[in-house]
Amino acid sequence: MAANKKLLILAGDGIGPEVMRQVERVLDWYAKRRAVSFGVNHGLVGGCSYDKHGTPLTDETMGEAMEADAVLLGAVGGPKWDSLPFEKKPERGLLRLRKDMELFANLRPAIVFGPLADASSLKRELVDGLDIMIVRELTGGVYFGKPRGIETLPDGTRRGINTQVYTTPEIQRVARVAFDLARLRGRKVCSVEKANVMESGVLWREEVQKLHDADYKDVELSHMYADNCAMQLVRQPKQFDVIVTDNLFGDLLSDCAAMLTGSLGMLPSASLGAADARGRRRALYEPVHGSAPDIAGKDLANPLATILSLAMMLRYSFALGADADLLEKAVSNALGAGIRTGDIMTPGATKVSTAGMGDAVLKELDKLAA
Ligand SMILES: NC(=O)c1ccc[n+]([C@@H]2O[C@H](COP(=O)([O-])OP(=O)(O)OC[C@H]3O[C@@H](n4cnc5c(N)ncnc54)[C@H](O)[C@@H]3O)[C@@H](O)[C@H]2O)c1
Repeated sequence: MAANKKLLILAGDGIGPEVMRQVERVLDWYAKRRAVSFGVNHGLVGGCSYDKHGTPLTDETMGEAMEADAVLLGAVGGPKWDSLPFEKKPERGLLRLRKDMELFANLRPAIVFGPLADASSLKRELVDGLDIMIVRELTGGVYFGKPRGIETLPDGTRRGINTQVYTTPEIQRVARVAFDLARLRGRKVCSVEKANVMESGVLWREEVQKLHDADYKDVELSHMYADNCAMQLVRQPKQFDVIVTDNLFGDLLSDCAAMLTGSLGMLPSASLGAADARGRRRALYEPVHGSAPDIAGKDLANPLATILSLAMMLRYSFALGADADLLEKAVSNALGAGIRTGDIMTPGATKVSTAGMGDAVLKELDKLAA
């Protein structure tokens, strides 16, 4: 039971509010049928916040996010705000949330539901039942390292510089998240770097191994070079349970793994920060997709990525694993019953609206709880 837990919902722009409406129906169901309830606050982020307050995220909303046990976000952005100055752009609101909440671990699961296995770019037998988790370091590495910049050399040519840099604490805190997750799953972690050509990769490998030997001997640890990992993900993805890697390799590998599942409308994510003294971790849950302006307001969007983000929240922020399993099973059963939004439509299936998919998930929840 998770009463008195504070949840901040930031639906955002475009299809954000539409998909979040279905999530709120699921939350109502949990309150009524499972006595799992949250103190829910709502706030604005992105273009809608700019329209009302002249900024993509107010200090007040940022403060609420810091106080919440979890933040659930829809999506931000759209053509209406594309020409705003950099600091006012909708994405700045999201970046501020990530920065101020110190969300250093990005969790991207790649799960293939049986009924959708044919949507993958790989053969059904390679992906049917796939369930892997990529943990990407999100606040360090080459995207933030200094020195950085573009400089003009004395001969008039130019040089672009970025620096790949990691420290022991940065590596070990994200590896700890991966090991802890593995304990809730298949107890296997594959740590990925390029130790063959990069010193930061050598350090990464050594520090992950040290942490494993000290605290996580019950989890199986392997190491892999990033280029090989890319190949293995498309050759035999089911060999993996949890993959932990740096910011740059994680960016590439998580997108690659995402495509194994076939659809953007199905992909949830979580970003976790450090645990505080009470053991509470700051956390933001959001679908991987954007605000899809091309279909916004038309009741066409697939709400499952956001609903599956809610399942991640139940599991990782509130330790409600059985409730998370129930929601994922309801999604799987709705797909098994042939219910599809347009983005995942297959011949012979029943095409439904955003709300129609919400109806289908609620119907399956009712059946499972009966
Ligand atoms: N985290 C975020 O909030 C986030 C992420 C990516 C892009 N964006 C922003 O979203 C806007 C649009 O970006 P984009 O078009 O590159 O990416 P997008 O993810 O919004 O859309 C890409 C394509 O996928 C489709 N799609 C996405 N989600 C879907 C869903 N749930 N159901 C059905 N179809 C879906 C869209 O209709 C579109 O054709 C931009 O302003 C961009 O900056 C925001």
